[in-house]
Amino acid sequence: MLAKKVQDALNDQIQAEMASAYLYLAMAAYCEAMNLKGFGHWLRAQYNEEVGHAMKMFDYVIERGGQVALKAIEAPPAEFGSPADVFAKVLAHEQHVTARINSLYELAVAEKDYATQIFLQWFISEQVEEEASADEIIERMKLAGDKGSALVWLDKELGKR
Ligand code: FEO
Repeated sequence: MLAKKVQDALNDQIQAEMASAYLYLAMAAYCEAMNLKGFGHWLRAQYNEEVGHAMKMFDYVIERGGQVALKAIEAPPAEFGSPADVFAKVLAHEQHVTARINSLYELAVAEKDYATQIFLQWFISEQVEEEASADEIIERMKLAGDKGSALVWLDKELGKR
């Protein structure tokens, strides 16, 4: 049985993962409106991953005999300054999610909830990957700079995800 504190924190994280999904979907719409279909494709894949993260937590709460309580998801912005701004925000967002997962883990340790600690290890590793891939795109964008042709190439690359 899940401790109430752990259950509440997992429910908050389900909301946070769904909010991440919604944010990436808004970013996909922004990029696709600029004809950056590859960026849009990458962000749509990211959207699907986030829904997957929320569902992993959803299933875990139920498996542990807890109660899922879904919460409202705030509307993400529709406008972003530029494609570079989109990916700077992806990285900042992932760093925020990492901090949340770490706090969740600390709570599981404090509550002596060993099963939740093991469950969260997958998310801890996943965050390393998520931050690294956002960082890589930012670095590639810096290399592309103002060169439109380089941005088009990068768009094609991201479309391969
Ligand atoms: Fe669910 Fe991108 O962290």
